[in-house]
Amino acid sequence: MHRYTDETERLAQAVLRYARDRMRMDPPLDGPYEPAEIAARAGRTITEDGMGGDAALRVFTDVIAPGVVSSDHPRYLAFIPTAPTEASTLFDLVVGASSIYGGSWLEGSGAVFAENQALRWIADLAGLPPGAGGAFVQGGTIGNLSALVAAREAARARRADGGRPVPGRWVVAATDEAHSSIAEAARVMDVDVLAVPGDDRGRLTGPALRAAIAAAEAADPATVDGLFAIVATAGATNLGIVDDIAGAADVAAERGAWLHVDGAYGGAALAAPSARHLFAGVEQADSFIVDPHKWLFAPYDACALLYRDPAAARAAHTQHAGYLDAVAHVEGEWNPSDYAIHLTRRARGLPFWFSLAMHGTRAYADAIEATIALAREAADEIRRRPYLELVVEPELSVVAFRRIGWERDDYERWSDRLLRTGVAFVTPTRHRGETITRFAIVSPRTTLADLTAILATMA
Ligand SMILES: Cc1ncc(COP(=O)(O)O)c(C=O)c1O
Repeated sequence: MHRYTDETERLAQAVLRYARDRMRMDPPLDGPYEPAEIAARAGRTITEDGMGGDAALRVFTDVIAPGVVSSDHPRYLAFIPTAPTEASTLFDLVVGASSIYGGSWLEGSGAVFAENQALRWIADLAGLPPGAGGAFVQGGTIGNLSALVAAREAARARRADGGRPVPGRWVVAATDEAHSSIAEAARVMDVDVLAVPGDDRGRLTGPALRAAIAAAEAADPATVDGLFAIVATAGATNLGIVDDIAGAADVAAERGAWLHVDGAYGGAALAAPSARHLFAGVEQADSFIVDPHKWLFAPYDACALLYRDPAAARAAHTQHAGYLDAVAHVEGEWNPSDYAIHLTRRARGLPFWFSLAMHGTRAYADAIEATIALAREAADEIRRRPYLELVVEPELSVVAFRRIGWERDDYERWSDRLLRTGVAFVTPTRHRGETITRFAIVSPRTTLADLTAILATMA
C-alpha cells in the first residue's frame, strides 16, 4: 500500500483526471439520496480483500459523488455556500499530497510562515496590531469556541492576579442573531449566555448591551459578575447584518470584558471598500474569526482565528506533555497548535495562501464587491415584484425576503422542487417566528439572471 507502483501510477492518472473533470464541469445540484437508496446502490464497500482502486473510484464517481449537493454551484444559495478559486482547489491537492504537519514551527515552519502571511493580510484588514496572530482552524464553530476559551482563561488569570474570587457563573453576552455555535460553545464551556435584544435589524448595539447588563445587574448583581466576553457578529448568518462593533467594544472596555468578533461569514467584506465602514470598531477586537471557506474563496475547511494578544491564547491552549517539550514555544517561532483546541492539524490555510499569493488581494476585493453589488441588484428585483417583500435591506451578500401569503409548507415544497429539478438550492429559514427565505451569495459566478430565474418560480 505504501509503494508507488505501476498500479499507483494508473490510479494517480485516473484520480487527477477525475479532479480536473470535476473542476471543469458545471457541478451537479442533485437532491440527497434516501438512506436505503444509497445503501442499495453502493453496496458493501469495505471487505477483507479490498475491491481495488478502479472499483473504489467507480463507487465514488457513480454513487457517492452524485449524492452530494455541490456547495460551489452558483445557484447553491442556501446556508452559507462556498466558492473556492480554481487555484485554491488545485493547491488543496498539493497540500493533501505533501504530508505537512501544520501544528508546530519545528515540523512545519515553511507552511506556518505562509499561513501566517495570509493571516497577516486579514489582521491588517481588521486593523489589528502588528503582534496579532493565531491559526487556521477547522471552521467558525471551533474558532468561536477556541476564542471564548481563551477569553475565559484571560478573565480567570486577571481575577487571580487581582485576588478576586472566581464568579459563581461565567457569562458571555450576545444577541439571538449570533450564530448557533456561540450557544454551542457556551454549552461546552458550561457558561451562561446573557441574551441581548437586537435592534429592528437584529443588530447588537452598545446601548442595548449596556441596558441588558444593567437590567441583569439590577435583578441580581451575581448574574453578570462573571461577564467575561461580548460577542459581536460581523455578518449574521441569517440576515447578513453587521453588529454595532464599536458600541460593543465600548461596553467591553467599560466592563473589562473580552470582545470577540465573529466574522465567519461576513468578515470577508473587510476587503471590500464599500462595506468597510460597517466594521468600525473591529480593530478593538480581542479575537476575530473569518472563514476563508465561506466568502474568501478557499476550499473546506478553513477558519482564520486571530488574537490581539497571542500570549493570552497560548496560556489557554498550549498543550503540555513530556514528548511535546521539543516544540515548546520559542519567541520568534510560531506553533499554530498553541492557539486553538487542536494539536495535529493539516496546513489548511495553504490553499487560501496560494490563491491569495497568485491573484493578489485586489482580485479578492473586486470579487467580494461584485457579490455585494449583486445582492443589491437582487434586492431591487425583489422590490419590483409585488408578490415578494424584502425582510431587511441587505448589508452584505445575504438577501432575506418573504413570498407574501406563503406558509412554511409552501416554502418547503418550493425549495424541494427547485433542488429536485436541479434549478437551485434555496432553503426556508425562520426570522422572529416567521418563515422566510434567503439568498446567501458568495460565488462571483452567480448572476442576476440566476437570481431572477429563481424569483420567477415564486410568482
Ligand atoms: C457567523 C457565523 N459564525 C460561525 C459559523 C460556523 O462556522 P462553521 O460552519 O465553519 O463551523 C457560521 C456558519 O455559517 C457563521 O455564519
